[in-house]
Amino acid sequence: MEAYPQETPEDWWEVEALLDSCFAPGRTGLSSYRLREGVAPVPALCRLRRDRTGIVIGAIRCWPVRVGAAPALLVGPVAVHPTRQGEGLGAALIGEVVERARDGGHERMLLVGDWPYYRRFGFEKLTGVEMPPPTNPERVLGLALVEGAWDGVAGEVVRAA
Ligand SMILES: CC(C)(COP(=O)(O)OP(=O)(O)OC[C@H]1O[C@@H](n2cnc3c(N)ncnc32)[C@H](O)[C@@H]1OP(=O)(O)O)[C@@H](O)C(=O)NCCC(=O)NCCS
Repeated sequence: MEAYPQETPEDWWEVEALLDSCFAPGRTGLSSYRLREGVAPVPALCRLRRDRTGIVIGAIRCWPVRVGAAPALLVGPVAVHPTRQGEGLGAALIGEVVERARDGGHERMLLVGDWPYYRRFGFEKLTGVEMPPPTNPERVLGLALVEGAWDGVAGEVVRAA
């Protein structure tokens, strides 16, 4: 059994329950969810972690988006059960997805999050990349999976479909 198996359709509601326990009510009202509506996530980049008893304690999903003409991966949501935070699980899930995305030939990732957390994975603040409002531009972060992948890439982030 893999440490961070790919999420299957049967896992969907268990992961949703984890997300509900990790985020404030109304999470699906966040602007990033507009980019996910009607678009399938990237299966290989949706991973989870179960504890010894089989309970889902961590999960990450990624969606395809576009910034202008450039394809990108929108990372998240990522969540770790409140009783298991601070053990390195979040870092492991993010690291797993970054590695798989690079191996899979993806060039760039972005997310909306706290730079003090995501900087450790190499995410930097993006300038000129606009998430749907209302999004604090300071929280729009990007990671180049190949050198220079964010150079000259700017504009509105839109749904891939
Ligand atoms: C954010 C989250 C996924 C991190 O997972 P985790 O397994 O707890 O994180 P890790 O164990 O890999 O890392 C813990 C470290 O990150 C720090 N950290 C966690 N959240 C942080 C944040 N928002 N800003 C800055 N640092 C943060 C912790 O203080 C800890 O620091 P240390 O290594 O110096 O002790 C998890 O806390 C979570 O699910 N939070 C609620 C949902 C959420 O906010 N998701 C992210 C949305 S962008």
